[in-house]
Order: sequence, then C-alpha cells, then structure tokens
Amino acid sequence: MPDRILIEGGTPLHGEVAVSGAKNAALPLMAASLLVPGEYVLENVPDLRDVTTMCGLLGHLGVSCDGRGTVTLDSTKASSWDAPYDLVKTMRASILTLGPLLARFGRAQVSQPGGCAIGTRPINRHLAGLEALGANIRLEHGYVIAEAERLVGAEVVFEAPTVTGTENLIMAAVFAEGRTALVNAAREPEIVDLADALNAMGARIAGAGTDVIHVEGVTSLTPVRYRVMPDRIEAGTYLIAAGVTRGNVTVKGCVPSHLRAVIERLEKAGLTVEEGPDWLRAACPDGIRAVDVRTDPYPGFPTDMQAQFMVLMALSDGLSTLTETIFDGRFMHVPELCRMGADITLSDRRAIIRGVAGLSAAPVMATDLRASASLVLAGLAAEEGITEISRVYHLDRGYDSLDRKLSLLGGKIWRASG
Ligand code: EPU
Repeated sequence: MPDRILIEGGTPLHGEVAVSGAKNAALPLMAASLLVPGEYVLENVPDLRDVTTMCGLLGHLGVSCDGRGTVTLDSTKASSWDAPYDLVKTMRASILTLGPLLARFGRAQVSQPGGCAIGTRPINRHLAGLEALGANIRLEHGYVIAEAERLVGAEVVFEAPTVTGTENLIMAAVFAEGRTALVNAAREPEIVDLADALNAMGARIAGAGTDVIHVEGVTSLTPVRYRVMPDRIEAGTYLIAAGVTRGNVTVKGCVPSHLRAVIERLEKAGLTVEEGPDWLRAACPDGIRAVDVRTDPYPGFPTDMQAQFMVLMALSDGLSTLTETIFDGRFMHVPELCRMGADITLSDRRAIIRGVAGLSAAPVMATDLRASASLVLAGLAAEEGITEISRVYHLDRGYDSLDRKLSLLGGKIWRASG
C-alpha cells in the first residue's frame, strides 16, 4: 500500500526551513535540454516525482539525465520526437516537450494530456501559438502531431495567459527564423527563469516577466550550468503553516518579491510577515482575520496557494470568500476539509468559508498536489487525535521532503506504509 502521512496536530511550528528549487521552473528548464546538445547542468533541482517523470520522458527521447539535486542532461543523442501516452498521462507538464521537439527535429508527436483533477485544462492556446509560427498540427488518436521544416517568427496573441503555453512558445521560437512576439504572455517568475537560462545559452529573449515577450531566432545554443529558482509556492505553504499553528517560522532561500500578493493577503489575515533579501518570517500573534481572496495570473494571488490559504480562512474569525478564476475544478479539498470540521460551502467558482474555532483530526484523502498540502496544514492545526492522509503520492509529485521539513519545525508528522 502506498505511503500515508500521519499528523498529530496542535503544536505551533517554530524555527527555520529552507525552500527547495521550484518544480514549475525545473520542469521547463529540463525540457529545454532538447534544444541544446552537450552537457547542460541544472543545480537546485528539487527531489520530486514530477522531476523523475520528466527524466523518464527525456530518457525515452534519448536525453541522458543523471544526478539528484544537480542534474546533468545531455541531448546529443536525442533521436525520438515521440512522447507517448504512458509517460505523458502521469504528468501534464510533459506537454513542455512539444515546443522544443518541434524546434529541434521539425517534428513532434506528443500525447494529449487529457483530463486532470483540477479542471479540464485544454492545450488549444499552445497549439494556436505553434500554428502561428507555421507549424502544421493534426490531432490523431489522442496525439498532437506537429510538423514544420523551420518555424518562422510571427506575432502570437494568446487569448488569455497560459504558463506552460508561454514556455512552449518561447522554446519553439528560439530557433524560428526572424522575430517572434508573444502578446498577452504569462508573467510568472518561472518564465523569467526559463528565459534567463536560454539567454545564458545564447538565445535572444526580451521581456520575460511582462506580457509581451520578444524572441529573436538564433541557429544554435551552447549548454550552460544554471541554478533553478526557489519554489515560491513551497515558501508560501510554510508561511501559512506558521499561521494555522500560531507558530513562528522563518523561510530561508526564497525570493520575497515573488510572493507579494501572498504576503499582502497574509498580513490582512493578521499574520506578521518580516522579510530580508532572501528570507521571510511569519507569525500569528493575535488570531486569524477573515479576508476575501481571488486567484489570478501572476502577479495576482496564485491558484497554487488557494487550497492552503483556505485552511487559514477555515480558522479565521469570520466569513470569507475564495474565488478561483484559473481552474474550473480546483475545490476537491473542500469536502475533505469539511470532514475535519471546516465550514465551507461552494457556489460555482467561489468557496464561502465560515471560520471555526478549531479543526479536528480525521482520515482524509489527497486528490491533487495542492489539495494534499492543504490537508497537511489542516492536520497540523487540528487538535486531538491523528489525521491520516492517504494517496500522498500527489504530495510527492511537487513538494521536496515536506513532511521531514515540517517535523524539523516541530510538527508531529510521520509516514506509514502498509
Ligand atoms: N488554458 C486553456 N488553453 C490552453 C492553456 C491553458 O484553456 O491552451 C486554461 C487552463 O485550463 C487554465 C488557464 O488557462 O484554466 C491557465 O492555465 P495555464 O496554462 O497557465 O496552466 P499550466 O501551464 O497548465 C501551470 C503550472 C500549474 C499552475 C498553473 C497556473 C506548471 C508545470 N504548471 O500550469 O501548476 O497551477 O500554471 O499558475 O508550470 C501545480 O504546481 O500544482 C500546478 C498545477
């Protein structure tokens, strides 16, 4: 039987915790190996199931992928352009191979990712963008088949921002002939990390982090050594852990400017948040206040923090709403939190949360990555008894050693098998 996580809550967390490299930066940076033959070294790669899955997929494509933490990728012998269903179905981010495969081989066959626990998540904006660069795209037997002898720079206007879509288009445009403009691009810091790495290799990308990105095509890249940015969602999860346990936690090795919207809402909710150049400290001296939050593309409040923030609001002094604007099905944690005593009702894309005095331990089931994190936070806050979270493989997809790091902060959390 897969691992379960057990938590005896009620202990305030105290101390320092270091964040790992960002999952959502590491995955596109790994996919970018397809663009650059030779030894390309990524440092600060988090130890995650999604990273292992990406290594497996790249291995299938002929890219060697060695090491943990510091990962050496070499696509000199890459020879396949086919990302099969069996590998793609376990991780949607596999779609990040589409742009670089097309740029490298003039051809890509990537399984359509299919449904997902947090929403329908189509890839139409990726495909429309690649078509604008001259790719010929067919959908056959559940696969995207894209072909283009050489992509040609063009203006791509996204109908709405997409993070991995923007990353795919940047990677596709790196070798396109002439200039590409990506308009209404996503602005997430992970996109800046990808552009910085590609520019260090010789690409000519300007404007990453704004909604208009320009890419001037080049003919080749030179591999580099690059350090993956810190995980802002992991950092935010520890800040909330301090809040829900009424503790005091210092998060080291993060980039505070990446968390502006989160910090602002935490302060409104009554937490004190101090910051230094690469650290944040959160405490909750006077109880949690109810605040309304709406998720938005960066620099707005991240959807990847919605489930965790809901636990904070579940313990607040009043009525709050959490509106999810990014994904259509990202409330699977709500029934589980209610089983732990939270008072939450759903109305379309809005959760209405009535703060309660405390949560109670219960057996619960993880449904997706961030939902799992919210259940861990609820377990840490719950009084009396032991919360048992099953299906924690969801957590291991995207958090590097979450249980170990929380136990170093004093949390009573452990794993059990069988
Ligand atoms: N969308 C479309 N068509 C497209 C692309 C997106 O309709 O072609 C829609 C999506 O269905 C969604 C919205 O646009 O409603 C935004 O989706 P986006 O494409 O930005 O999401 P993504 O690139 O698939 C990345 C992260 C997610 C994170 C979102 C939003 C990676 C590998 N994944 O997904 O991370 O939630 O951006 O910030 O970067 C997670 O880490 O838990 C996670 C789900």
